[in-house]
Amino acid sequence: MIYNRCGRSGLKLPAISLGLWHNFGHVDDFETARKILFTAFDAGITHFDLANNYGPPPGSAEENFGKIMKQDLKAWRDEMIISTKAGYLMWDGPYGEWGSRKYLLASLDQSLKRMQLDYVDIFYSHRPDPDTPLEETMSALDQAVRSGKALYAGISNYNPDQTIETSRILRELGTPCLIHQPKYSLLVRWVEKSLLDVLENEGIGCIAFSPLAQGLLTDKYIKGIPKDSRAAKPHGFLRRDEVTAEVISKVKKLNELAKKRGQSLAQMALAWLLKDPRVTSVLIGTRTVEQLQDNLGTMENLDFTTEELEKIEMVIK
Ligand SMILES: NC(=O)c1ccc[n+]([C@@H]2O[C@H](COP(=O)([O-])OP(=O)(O)OC[C@H]3O[C@@H](n4cnc5c(N)ncnc54)[C@H](OP(=O)(O)O)[C@@H]3O)[C@@H](O)[C@H]2O)c1
Repeated sequence: MIYNRCGRSGLKLPAISLGLWHNFGHVDDFETARKILFTAFDAGITHFDLANNYGPPPGSAEENFGKIMKQDLKAWRDEMIISTKAGYLMWDGPYGEWGSRKYLLASLDQSLKRMQLDYVDIFYSHRPDPDTPLEETMSALDQAVRSGKALYAGISNYNPDQTIETSRILRELGTPCLIHQPKYSLLVRWVEKSLLDVLENEGIGCIAFSPLAQGLLTDKYIKGIPKDSRAAKPHGFLRRDEVTAEVISKVKKLNELAKKRGQSLAQMALAWLLKDPRVTSVLIGTRTVEQLQDNLGTMENLDFTTEELEKIEMVIK
């Protein structure tokens, strides 16, 4: 594993981080989840990303992670970076989602309880709230850090203008924004327009979520939708109708380019993101230990020739 500095902070993150959005809920196999976490940590993945609502049911990924932390990983807490978030719907009534101080701080307390932790390393505002002043949302992140319940503050799904404003407010509060978590992959490239430049200017790290486009950027959908895949599951966020002929045609071409590099498509997709020094880490999900091992193989070839990059660009532009 290599560890990249997160923006202009003192914190380094592994080039590959593991997210627990899918595959770690009560609907999933606990022993597999445990094995995935051990394999990841043994391979140098020190960063584990959660959110209040991960499951299903919501909260169950944090509960399962908490169990594994307590049973198995507690002794290594100081070697781990654990993040959680609040922003999406978590409980009934007017205080169970978005960006109020009331919701964010209550949610963080609930997350700590579920994970049986004293603190998280990073606490995120999971999405911007159009109806709450940014100052209020950011002051809640600042308080989370000042109270010792989080060590750093982060944002996710904020656009470039919101990011600049957030960064200013947090800097003034004395809790600089550590990291931004946007969706970014060979198939979803909005961050390249201006977000990455903003992050570099502001000294904020970037951790790219769904770097495999939820599994589309692997060879698994080339011959249809496999039974056990995310697109086939009722609770999977990848819908069947997102596996289109147009996407699969691109995936097939990318798969051929990956083969020529001696890599799997998943490995090429992750390496392609990591070639940009503004990307601190790629935040993968995995359902099996084998998928994780495939993704870890990315580290064996991170370099691209100009010709390879041009060929990839022709496919995805
Ligand atoms: N901030 C946000 O709003 C936000 C939103 C989404 C995600 N996230 C974060 O990003 C993390 C990752 O998101 P993601 O799960 O969508 O990431 P992803 O890496 O794009 O997709 C992961 C899925 O792809 C498939 N896969 C992974 N490696 C594979 C391989 N080598 N070969 C074949 N298939 C493979 C598996 O799906 P199958 O089940 O089909 O095998 C796996 O569950 C989440 O856990 C979460 O922490 C954040």
